[in-house]
Amino acid sequence: MLTNNVKGTHDIIGEEANGFAYIENVLKQICELFAYNEVRPPVMEHSELFVRGVGEGSDIVRKEMYTFNDKADRSITLRPEFTAGIMRLIVQNKLLATNELPFKVYYCGPVFRYERPQLGRYRQFNQFGVEAVGNNTPEIDVEVITLAYTILSSLNLENVKIAINTLGDDESRNAYKEALKAYFAKHLDKMCPDCHSRYELNPLRILDCKVPEDQEIVKGAPKMKDYLSDAAKARFARVLELLDALDIPYEVDDTLVRGLDYYAETVFEFHYVSKTGNDYGAIGAGGHYDKLVKEIGGPDAAGVGFSFGVERLYSVLKDDELLPDNINTNVEIYVMPLGNEAKTMAQLVASELRLSGFRTDICFEDVKLGNMFKRAERKGAKFAIIIGEDEVSKQQVVIKNLETTEQKSCELEKLIETISTEMGEEFCD
Ligand code: HAM
Repeated sequence: MLTNNVKGTHDIIGEEANGFAYIENVLKQICELFAYNEVRPPVMEHSELFVRGVGEGSDIVRKEMYTFNDKADRSITLRPEFTAGIMRLIVQNKLLATNELPFKVYYCGPVFRYERPQLGRYRQFNQFGVEAVGNNTPEIDVEVITLAYTILSSLNLENVKIAINTLGDDESRNAYKEALKAYFAKHLDKMCPDCHSRYELNPLRILDCKVPEDQEIVKGAPKMKDYLSDAAKARFARVLELLDALDIPYEVDDTLVRGLDYYAETVFEFHYVSKTGNDYGAIGAGGHYDKLVKEIGGPDAAGVGFSFGVERLYSVLKDDELLPDNINTNVEIYVMPLGNEAKTMAQLVASELRLSGFRTDICFEDVKLGNMFKRAERKGAKFAIIIGEDEVSKQQVVIKNLETTEQKSCELEKLIETISTEMGEEFCD
């Protein structure tokens, strides 16, 4: 037990950790090009925020939250998603009153959902996302989709499928919910217990039910597109027109409703099946919301955003060999001291090399020289620096090119100059 991780969590180590850093770096750079700034909300919030924000009819709130009472008996929840917390952060810090609108942010970090673990599904996973708040136009929806699309293109993920739909305005959704209630009322006795509470809390959630028998019933349900108001139809048409103008491919999917209650108007998901055929589920998703800020006590302001699942991005990039080769953990230079005095000099030499930008490691163990070379090889080092008693007394080191096996003595003072030249030649080769 002590040496097992908690079910649904995972350790991110070595190549995978480097892959995550690479992905997050690309995402941050693109967000900054689009003039989004980073925010870092806390991992825990008052539970009520998610109940009100994400919606008590959603699976996330009903079944998946990590909620506990703290020592002062407050109900606290580890965030199951970012958007509600970002809205709390914006309202509490009065950011809509003190900034040009839309207020645009990006964020990254762990998220917790008590789901059944399977391929691409964890209980602790990482999301990277954006929110643009304080503008209600179709143009900002399209900016956010363009940002996500640019990120996926920069990661070289071609053939991403963007599924898009509209949930319409309040008028459209209310009419649609009525129609769904009338339809499901006739079938409810055959449906799962979850659908009974979904029916009461938010009948839209029934459309997402995973029970096969219920899915058959869902197939015959009324379609959102038949209940859209003229204003909602015009808004969605403008979103699609802008996507066409920007040459961003999409497929309208009129069954897409998303599992969180705050959405209105535009909703979208990004899908990618890797060449291995592995389907990890949506790699990202998002949409427009217009009541969320008000719902949690803020001003009347609409927003739009998306989140990517970083684990899922990593999995598809790894499957399709799209992670760059140079994100490895190889050291460039391995310093090999022989004897105690040499160990002091090794630390000085390594510090100097590191400050000059060389990824340097030291052998700390008293092993034979041959063993040290084996270690250097395993670490992928290009050069070894050997320091014996003789080198200490002469204030020199021996530099060995581990590929060509050539070696030469070098004055300590000339070390950085010499190794820079050697590395330069190495790169030219
Ligand atoms: P979501 O669809 O619940 O949306 O999650 C966004 C992404 O997180 C998913 O597309 C998926 O890549 C990843 N994800 C979700 N659950 C898991 C899991 N159990 N394991 C691994 N990855 C997972 C939201 O969270 C919204 N807050 C998105 C948003 C932002 N809407 C507006 N702004």
